[in-house]
Amino acid sequence: MCGIVGYIGFKDVKEIILRGLEKLEYRGYDSAGIAVAYNNNIYICKEKGRIYSLRESIDRSITGYLGIGHTRWATHGEPNKTNSHPHQSSTGRFTLVHNGIIENEEELKNKYLQGVKLNSDTDTEIIVQLIEKFVNEGEPVDLAIRHTMSELKGSYALAIIDKEDMDTLYGAKNKTPLLAGKGDGFNMLSSDAMAMIDYTNLFYEIKDKEFLKVTKDSIEIFTISGEKVTRKPYKADIDTIDTEKGTYPHYMLKEIEEQPFVIRKIISEYTDENGNIKISPDILQDVRSCNKVYIIACGTSYHAGLIGKQFFEKISKKPTEVVIASEFIYNMPLLSEKPMFMFISQSGETADCISVLSKIKDMGYKTLTLTNVKGSTLYREVDHTLLLHAGPEIAVASTKAYTAQIAVLAILASSIDNRVNIDVCKELSIIANVMESLCSDKEKYKSLAEKYLVNSRNCFYIGRSMDYHVCLEASLKLKEISYIQTEGFPAGELKHGTIALIEKNTPVIGIITQEKINLNTRSNIREVEARGAATMIISMKKVSQDTDAIVIDNVNELLSPLVAIIPAQYLAYYAALLKGCDIDKPRNLAKSVTVE
Ligand code: AGP
Ligand code: GLU
Repeated sequence: MCGIVGYIGFKDVKEIILRGLEKLEYRGYDSAGIAVAYNNNIYICKEKGRIYSLRESIDRSITGYLGIGHTRWATHGEPNKTNSHPHQSSTGRFTLVHNGIIENEEELKNKYLQGVKLNSDTDTEIIVQLIEKFVNEGEPVDLAIRHTMSELKGSYALAIIDKEDMDTLYGAKNKTPLLAGKGDGFNMLSSDAMAMIDYTNLFYEIKDKEFLKVTKDSIEIFTISGEKVTRKPYKADIDTIDTEKGTYPHYMLKEIEEQPFVIRKIISEYTDENGNIKISPDILQDVRSCNKVYIIACGTSYHAGLIGKQFFEKISKKPTEVVIASEFIYNMPLLSEKPMFMFISQSGETADCISVLSKIKDMGYKTLTLTNVKGSTLYREVDHTLLLHAGPEIAVASTKAYTAQIAVLAILASSIDNRVNIDVCKELSIIANVMESLCSDKEKYKSLAEKYLVNSRNCFYIGRSMDYHVCLEASLKLKEISYIQTEGFPAGELKHGTIALIEKNTPVIGIITQEKINLNTRSNIREVEARGAATMIISMKKVSQDTDAIVIDNVNELLSPLVAIIPAQYLAYYAALLKGCDIDKPRNLAKSVTVE
């Protein structure tokens, strides 16, 4: 769940690696390090904390043309300088960065590394020590790396330097993303194309259990047993402007405000020149012919899946079950006769989803993914893909991907079977306008965040039906970036126990967009008010009352989550801003969760 980057070529590597790491920092950011090959030696610099600390510590006088770098999200060993990558073998011959988790670390230590002094608490160090051990036993470097790969259980993306051959950069991959970037007189390796896009847009996809030998003029890919793989590079169409913050103080704010454009982009990507929905007939055929849809996802994407279930069941009468990926792996529900699996994932790299996918593929079922990242693991491994077209999402807290997921789910549901006769694209274009007007009310959200949230220890979002699902996402947003403990709760369920937590001034935010539950949710709000809660209501115009804090223009009720979430995203943003939190990179988190 970190980022790695490697470069071999003709330019001083320090700045290239540092800039690459800055682009990857969203993946993990508790410590970082760099190794540069120079004067037949390896210069290493590591720092706890962010890339800017590393940038400040680097010795500017070092110049080299081969280097590797790492931004870490610790899984084994605390985030400190010693445990930061790169790690080196005992003699210092091999230097390595690793993304992933080695599951049989203890077993390998006992079997091969008795007597070897380990310098860190990481699982990573055993990889570099094993390579050196096999080389010391007489294996050529290529074989020693492949031998090591065959001993490892778990996930890894590796970049490796051998001090005795400074013209080669080695790489390896299993269950964790790795791409090779092809340049003119240089080549690169990284976990994400974004780290290389300033230098090249030509990439080689690397598959599991593949080994790489990279020089400044060539990229050679091999299987774990040493057979050469022939593969063509692909061209990525990432616009570097999309990955910049521009005039925004934070990516999260930029991404919240991009939502109206994303919805319009989705409409244009999914309709033809006559305004009819265009989705591949193969996808429609597979979804229509299954007898139950299983949506698999995590976090925000899971919350979008809950809304998707409503669409499939209400718009197209297709029974649907939504399961958290990490739960599905060990507690698989009893499957229907002809299931179809839908994976929702912004990154397309979430390890919990990938594990479910490999299980499902073995069972021979049809799979579809909704992802924002073309070329990601889920994108490549499923039968069908629907892209979100949201543009790169950099802030750890997901915003525009959530609404994009809901919009694409609505389009899909309405094109399999449209029994409620809803013109989804027309409704979505109304929604884009309403989103825009919500985005112009920032000062209001800021003062509400100041009044209700900044000084609170805990908070509740309550709602019923679809509003409850929005509450789950609203509370995840608030807790993950402002660290205010927040629960999203079914409004009617509070009185069955949780209401005991309401104290004087506990903020309770009600979301009310559905006519049929309006009065019930309002009664629940009164119940908590009677116990001292500081209440605030976000409602849709047609069910609003004068005292409601935020009133949203009417949109089709079924699609209301798309607009109801916007004020909640802003409230989270401003609560975190006013509390002085690190909004784009909240503590303990990473954007791409590539470990199970
Ligand atoms: C939410 O803001 C995220 N921090 C997180 O919950 C995320 O949605 C989850 O990790 C799933 O990621 P994915 O969509 O890339 O699979
Ligand atoms: N497991 C390794 C560690 O804890 C790598 C973690 C990562 O992917 O950042 O150092």
